[in-house]
Amino acid sequence: MTTHLIAPSILSADFSRMGEAVSEIQNAEADWVHIDVMDGIFVPNLTFGPKMVGDLRPYTDLPFDVHLMIEKPDQLIPAFAEAGADYITFHLEAVVHAHRTVQLIRSLGKKPGVSIVPSTPVSLLTELLPFIDQVLIMTVNPGFGGQNLIETCLDKIRSLAAIRKELNLNFLIAADGGINVQTSSKVRNAGTDVLIAGSAFFSAADKKQFVKVLKGIS
Ligand code: DX5
Ligand code: ZN
Repeated sequence: MTTHLIAPSILSADFSRMGEAVSEIQNAEADWVHIDVMDGIFVPNLTFGPKMVGDLRPYTDLPFDVHLMIEKPDQLIPAFAEAGADYITFHLEAVVHAHRTVQLIRSLGKKPGVSIVPSTPVSLLTELLPFIDQVLIMTVNPGFGGQNLIETCLDKIRSLAAIRKELNLNFLIAADGGINVQTSSKVRNAGTDVLIAGSAFFSAADKKQFVKVLKGIS
């Protein structure tokens, strides 16, 4: 049986109680903490920077999965690495020299990931795939929690899983946006390894049960 990783996103937490939110993620037996960084330019919303990552670091040993929805990510990647990020994922659409950004993340001892928005085809990732640890397929347009999953993005996950097999590579495939109890089985069936969920996790009454359902074991 394939093991799926669950990464709740703190975007949907109460920003005045972020430490508690991270503890809730750990207590729910989720796998990673997903941290959405937005700059108000690459996406039409703003969140927080490296200080939040550093301040949250003592609250858990779970891996921090930092999703950078920002322009010029190279300028801030060293600060996120220093603050305690484990995976650092940037957007292909935000950079020209994506391979250089991957090298920068690797040089800091972190796991590089690349993300694409719904309108970007998987074929644009081909040259990067041998160098990365994670591909994050956005299943909504990035910027906000609580949107509906765009079904055609699941076809991109299927194609990516086929390419990974063909090239014999090992990167993880993550899906982000609109994942909840109703949509999770089709997201898993498309070939996703990491299910990211913000609003559905934080609105779940029984978070431990929610994580089990998303993993497909309950
Ligand atoms: C959106 C973020 C997501 C967001 C998902 O731009 O990248 O991680 O938190 O939120 P839900 O699960 O509510 O769609
Ligand atoms: Zn995200």
